[in-house]
Amino acid sequence: MKNLFTIILLSFSLSGLAAPIRKFISIDKNILKSIGPELSYSTQTLVENGSAAIVELSLPQIEEVSHKIHSKLHRCGGFMAHDSLAEARGIISNKSKTFSFIDYSVSEQAKVVPMLEQVSEEEIRKMVLALSSYETRHYQSETGTQSVQFIHDSWVKLSRHRSDVKVELVKHDQWAQPSVILTISGSAKTDEIIILGGHADSIAMDGDEAPGADDNASGIASVTEVIRLLMVNNYKPNRTIQFMAYAAEEVGLLGSKEIAKSYRKEKKKVVGVMQLDMTLFKGSQDKDIFLISDYTNKAQNTFMGKLIDEYVKVPWGYSKCGYGCSDHASWSSMGYPASFPFETSMEDHNPNIHTIDDTLESAGGNADHAVKFTKLSVAYILEMTK
Ligand code: BES
Ligand code: ZN
Repeated sequence: MKNLFTIILLSFSLSGLAAPIRKFISIDKNILKSIGPELSYSTQTLVENGSAAIVELSLPQIEEVSHKIHSKLHRCGGFMAHDSLAEARGIISNKSKTFSFIDYSVSEQAKVVPMLEQVSEEEIRKMVLALSSYETRHYQSETGTQSVQFIHDSWVKLSRHRSDVKVELVKHDQWAQPSVILTISGSAKTDEIIILGGHADSIAMDGDEAPGADDNASGIASVTEVIRLLMVNNYKPNRTIQFMAYAAEEVGLLGSKEIAKSYRKEKKKVVGVMQLDMTLFKGSQDKDIFLISDYTNKAQNTFMGKLIDEYVKVPWGYSKCGYGCSDHASWSSMGYPASFPFETSMEDHNPNIHTIDDTLESAGGNADHAVKFTKLSVAYILEMTK
């Protein structure tokens, strides 16, 4: 009798009836909806929160999910496996900042490449000259406010034929210079936002004149060129795009801090942020673009590297500021994924910034270097809003 039991038990476990390992999967609801019908089993959602769901699966079932995401959606990831329901709940809870299923695939060559060919060095150069011709864009000066009004008016002019675009001056309580935000409403994922920004203000240590051509008329000129190209090509994004010219960066990232804080408070879904601050000066011989690796998001930085290889085709590397050196840090500190591609390595940075000599002339006399950052921005915006 005892032997018979042993045989029965043994044959049960050999036939796979021993309890299989099960995991709790947090997954984007849209992904689940799209691959669900093609799975060989049916899934039951245990918990839902916002755009995320939790389902319980065995290891072979998880493998099938991964294969289907690859074969149907042509992408990687999109879900995470957890040992307990509690852990999975923690990840998808609103409090958690680690939950994000961002598609970092590179697939929009057909749209990106033709637009890259239209990036105009002359347009960028003209905007750098226009902005650096203000005596100063200091956040407390009259010309500081006038120059921001000029950015606002330029963006209105570029977008006035589009009813899905609005341009706003964002007022700040504690100083006069406003920020500017241009919004293109997304047609499918309207609540998800991609941000491209740079600071509008300038500063000088050696007197009242602060042309700030490289720091940061160049970044605003690149942002403006991206807006021009999206408008000329009548681009309609799935996600919402916001272009930002921040006030008062030079005195402690004040404008971007206020905006990022209010976005966090209002629980706005910022999926990605890209910062442009200094794009004119090619001061490092070996490489053209340096991704700032501190106060930025690692996964998005890796994606930026892929975009440079695919679309800009220039040598790039990483560098560090060592502190929150520009507006990307305002977004990072609010838990949003931000990246900051920079014109040189930190050691080689433009020696003329924050002086009367920060001019187009001293940064090389043309906007060839800025063209590379503008191309990267076009690629980032189109890939992130597909
Ligand atoms: N564009 C600079 C930051 C920068 C300078 C980055 C050189 C890399 C190399 C920015 O406008 C700036 O000057 N930031 C301030 C910090 C801020 C918190 C006041 C700075 O670096 O002093
Ligand atoms: Zn500066």
